[in-house]
Amino acid sequence: MRVIVIGGTGHVGTYMVPRLVQSGHEVIVVSRSQRQPYQAHGAWASVRMVAMDRAAEEASGQFGQKMVDLRPDVVIDMICFKLESAQHLVQALRGNVQHFLHCGTIWVHGPSVEAPTTEEQARRPFGEYGIQKAAIEAYLLDQARRYGFPATCVHPGHIVGPGWVPLNPQGNFNPQVYVSLARGDELALPHIGMETVHHVHADDVAQVFTQAMANFSTAVGQSFHAVSPAAVTLRGFAEAVASWFGQEARLRYLPWEEFARGVEEKDAEQTLQHIEHSPNCSIAKAQRLLGYQPRYSSFQAVSESVQWLIEHKVVTTS
Ligand SMILES: NC(=O)c1ccc[n+]([C@@H]2O[C@H](COP(=O)([O-])OP(=O)(O)OC[C@H]3O[C@@H](n4cnc5c(N)ncnc54)[C@H](OP(=O)(O)O)[C@@H]3O)[C@@H](O)[C@H]2O)c1
Repeated sequence: MRVIVIGGTGHVGTYMVPRLVQSGHEVIVVSRSQRQPYQAHGAWASVRMVAMDRAAEEASGQFGQKMVDLRPDVVIDMICFKLESAQHLVQALRGNVQHFLHCGTIWVHGPSVEAPTTEEQARRPFGEYGIQKAAIEAYLLDQARRYGFPATCVHPGHIVGPGWVPLNPQGNFNPQVYVSLARGDELALPHIGMETVHHVHADDVAQVFTQAMANFSTAVGQSFHAVSPAAVTLRGFAEAVASWFGQEARLRYLPWEEFARGVEEKDAEQTLQHIEHSPNCSIAKAQRLLGYQPRYSSFQAVSESVQWLIEHKVVTTS
């Protein structure tokens, strides 16, 4: 099939595009051509790269028609963040595509209620990002179920892979947290360290997308989490990272205000966003309906990334 990946050179596209090419698909990647995939792969030689700024094309009302002009069988939209963007694309693609896959986020859920959270639980998103993603999901599933538009939503957790800083045990992206744990320094955690984060390796996200394509009849009109088999607590995560360096984690538990005062403002904001969600999502539906078999646990995925950070001297251990 001819597959367009909108935003196909990022975290997920790095793994998804080679997977698609190796499955025999003709792949077109739409991006601004400002960046390269995180890893080289021979498959990219056979990929058609189309340079386009989605925001500019949407502003002029041309984006949807430009996608139709590429005559896709499948469109994978990695970079849709506004309901209007989804509506614009669906209007153009209606009747012009066999399968449409949207990349959402587990933040469509808001705070966990019953854990692990299933795709069927009522949405309680907060924050503009999660609210918009939940609105897009609701719109796409409605379009699929009411009007037969062939949409599937894939909701990744915190995406991890070699080449960028994985969400750390404080629930932010400061690489110094890994340095502290590697050196056996004391690390502050908010509250009692029992809030959760839920990572996923980028290749496992790619797997959910390709499995959804391969299982079209069960995937259309459905949402699927793309996460590792198990979320981790901040405390357990910190202890595991320290153990990779032969250390015992020296953790100090602080009330929120005190914790926030002790870290950079940006880090405190990110930690708060992550622990307010404290995601813990189920993969049972993706396993049952798509045959999803994640290759990485949360710790395996983060460990691979931290190894990359050490090799590239972002994290120094001595
Ligand atoms: N990161 C996470 O932990 C996380 C967690 C849950 C869900 N998600 C979801 O994952 C999706 C992002 O996937 P990703 O992390 O693989 O992507 P990414 O690494 O952020 O890469 C973005 C891709 O989109 C292209 N792009 C960005 N702006 C563009 C524009 N205006 N026009 C055309 N192309 C553009 C980029 O290439 P150029 O820069 O060259 O244009 C690149 O190919 C989002 O829907 C996000 O909500 C992410």
